Amino acid sequence: MAVGMAISSADAGDGGGFAFDGKMNKFVILCCIIASTGGLMFGYDIGISGGVTAMDDFLEKFFHSVYLKKHHAHEDNYCKYNNQGLQLFTSSLYLAALVASFFASYVCSKYGRKFTMQVAAFIFLLGVLFNGAAFHVAMLIGGRLLLGCGIGFANQAVPLFLSEIAPVKYRGGLNILFQLMVTIGILIANLVNFFMEKIHPWGWRVSLSLAGVPAMLLLIGSFVIPETPTSLIERGQQNQGLETLRKIRGTENVEKEYQEIVHACEMAHEVKHPFRNLMKRKSRPQLVIAILMQVFQQFTGINAIMFYAPVLFQTIGFHNNASLMSAVITGIVNVVSTIVSIVLVDILGRRMLLLEACAQMFISQLAIGSTLMVHLESTGSLTKITSIAVVCLVCVYVMSFAWSWGPLGWLIPSEIFPVETRTAGYAFAVSSNMLFTFLIAQAFLSMLCSMKAAVFFFFAVWIIIMGLFTIFLLPETKGIPIDEMTDRVWKQHWFWRRFMDHDTPGPSRV
Ligand code: BGC
Repeated sequence: MAVGMAISSADAGDGGGFAFDGKMNKFVILCCIIASTGGLMFGYDIGISGGVTAMDDFLEKFFHSVYLKKHHAHEDNYCKYNNQGLQLFTSSLYLAALVASFFASYVCSKYGRKFTMQVAAFIFLLGVLFNGAAFHVAMLIGGRLLLGCGIGFANQAVPLFLSEIAPVKYRGGLNILFQLMVTIGILIANLVNFFMEKIHPWGWRVSLSLAGVPAMLLLIGSFVIPETPTSLIERGQQNQGLETLRKIRGTENVEKEYQEIVHACEMAHEVKHPFRNLMKRKSRPQLVIAILMQVFQQFTGINAIMFYAPVLFQTIGFHNNASLMSAVITGIVNVVSTIVSIVLVDILGRRMLLLEACAQMFISQLAIGSTLMVHLESTGSLTKITSIAVVCLVCVYVMSFAWSWGPLGWLIPSEIFPVETRTAGYAFAVSSNMLFTFLIAQAFLSMLCSMKAAVFFFFAVWIIIMGLFTIFLLPETKGIPIDEMTDRVWKQHWFWRRFMDHDTPGPSRV
C-alpha cells in the first residue's frame, strides 16, 4: 500500500516538534481538562434526547400521537417511534450548531478561543433554562436551538484550543480529552435518564435541566485557563504569547517553538479573507479531509445508536428499564474505549486506529443487521439470548468507533490547517459534523421503519468507502508540529502534493 503511506510513521514521528522542549506538566493538563468540559455539554445532549423521547410523561405532554402509537398493542416494531416532530426535537439542535459554527469561527479568530468558550457556555445555559421550564413544544425546540448555538461555539473553540496548547508529542492524547468528555457526557445522560424515567411526571425536566452543570463548569473554568499562544500572537500580543508558552511548556526554553508560531502568524497576516483563502487550490487537501472526516464519522451510523439507543433497544424487544440499562452499558464501553485511544493515538498513529476500526465496525454492523433480520419479525421480540448477543455486538461496534472515528473526527481537522485558515477550516469540520448528525438523526427513525434491519447494511457500505479513503488519501499526522504540516505532510503526499504551490515556502523549520 505504498501509495497510501504519504510518510511512514517512523518518519512522521521524528525531528521537528520533538526538538521542542515542551513536556507534559500539571498546568497544561489542568487547562486541557477544564477546556474539554465543553465536550461534556455536547455529550450530555447527545445522550439525553434518546432517553427523554422514550419517556411516557414527556411523550404524553409534547408528542401525544407518538405516545398513543407507542402503546398501541400491534404496532410495527420498527415504526412505532417514526414521527417527524419527535425527530425534529432531537435534530433541531444540530441545525442551530451548523449555522453557529461559522459565527464561532469569526469570534474565535477575532477574540480568541477562550472568549468563544465563554460565549458558548452562556448561550447554552439560556437554552437549558428554556428546556427545563418548557410547557409548550415551541419552547422545547427554542431551547434546543439555543443549546445548538452553544455547542457550535464550544465545538469550534475547544478542540482548536487543545491542539494549540498541547506539546506536539502528546497532541493526539490531549485533544482526545474532548471526545472523552463527550463520551462521559453521554454516559451521565444515560444514567440520569435511567433514574429520572421513574420520577413522574417531571423526571424529564430534571434530565433536561442537568445539562446546565457542564455549562457552568466550562463558564467558571474558562476564567482560569489562558488564551493559546497562537491566538495571542495572531492577535498581536507577542509578549503575552511568549509568556503563556513558557507557562504551558513549564520551561524558559521555548524560543524555537515561539519563532515557529510567530512565523506562521506572520504568514497568516498576509491573508485578509480566511474563507476566500480556504477556497484556493492549496487549501483543498485540508478542507476535503476535514469535511470528509466528519461526514464519514457520521456515516459510521454511530448516532443511530447514540441518540436512539433506548428507543432501538425497545424496538428490538427490551422493556423501558432494560433498554435504558443497555444504553448505559454501551455508554461505559464508549468511555473506556476512548481512553484506549488517548493512550494509543500518539504511539500507533491515526491511520492504524482508523483502519482497524473500519474492519471491526464492518463486521459488527453486518452481524447486527443479519441477526435482527433473521430473528426479529416486525411485531415479535427477540429471545433473551439473542437480545444479549445484539447488545454485545453493539458494544463491539461502539468500542471500535470510540477509539477511532469518534475522537479522530475532531482531532485530525484541528491539526491539519495552517494558522491562516485554521478557524475557518475548522468551522467547515464542525458544521459538516452538525449537518450530517442532523440528517442522520432526522432520517434514522424513518429509515429504520422502511429498511428495517437492513439499515445496518447501509452503514456497513459506508465503512468500506471510508476504509479506502484512509488507505489512499489520509496522511499520517502523528508527531508533526501543526505549523510544519504543509512542508512535511501535504508537500510529500503522493496525491495531495499536486495541490501545493511549491514556490511558496511553508513556515520555516527552525
Ligand atoms: C460524535 C457524535 C457521537 C459521539 C459518540 C462524537 O465524536 O461527533 O456524533 O455521538 O462521538 O461518542
